[in-house]
Amino acid sequence: MFNLNHRYLRYALWILLAIPAIPLLVDFIFDERYYSELMYESGLLSVQLLFLTLCISPFRVLTQKYQAFKSTNRWLMTSRRYFGVASFGYAVIHLFVYIREYPALADIFSQMFELDIALGWIAMILMTALAVTSNNYSVKRLGPRWKKLHLWVYPTPVLLYFHWYLFGFFVEVLNFWFIPFVAIQAYRSLTQYIRHKNSASAPSVS
Ligand code: HEM
Repeated sequence: MFNLNHRYLRYALWILLAIPAIPLLVDFIFDERYYSELMYESGLLSVQLLFLTLCISPFRVLTQKYQAFKSTNRWLMTSRRYFGVASFGYAVIHLFVYIREYPALADIFSQMFELDIALGWIAMILMTALAVTSNNYSVKRLGPRWKKLHLWVYPTPVLLYFHWYLFGFFVEVLNFWFIPFVAIQAYRSLTQYIRHKNSASAPSVS
């Protein structure tokens, strides 16, 4: 039987997640594309990967009763951190593009207090904290605090929604990704709430 947890499959996933970064970095290094294009592409890839990461757990909850999804779900849950780290990687490219456009520290510092940019910075700080602790050593070292820290991933899409919305570019693309994302999270929370309520009100057998 094909083993989904095979390490070669993990390497293949890393390569797959890194492929979109190649043209982006080449164009960035050789200054081949406009600032706005690079900002859009890196920002969008980061948002898409973050949403994908956050949809893995709802997907598992919604499909766990089907035997056919069992091994896929196990693989997705163990690979979740790679999608999250890749999202962070594209956010770093986004930040590099921004810094090259505004090389003076004084500019970066003064823009930091404008709401649209400030929201990007807060999201970036949260994503950095999550990315650097997305490894087995941190899970062991932080113990129960690790789970608490990683709950901070949930405000990130909200910050990013307004970060993007306030710039006003391609808002239809923003909504195209954000609306299904919110619907999936809401459906998952509702099913979990109903399940929790039903199990709490079920008579105990003892
Ligand atoms: C480090 C802090 C950040 C700064 C300084 C920053 C800066 C910017 C700027 C200046 C724009 C407008 C680009 C333009 O003029 O075309 C922008 C747009 C955008 N940012 Fe950020 N950003 C930050 C963090 C993030 C993060 C963490 C993400 C994603 C996870 C992100 C995703 C986006 C997206 C999707 C857009 C909309 C694309 C567009 O307007 O072309 N940003 N950001």
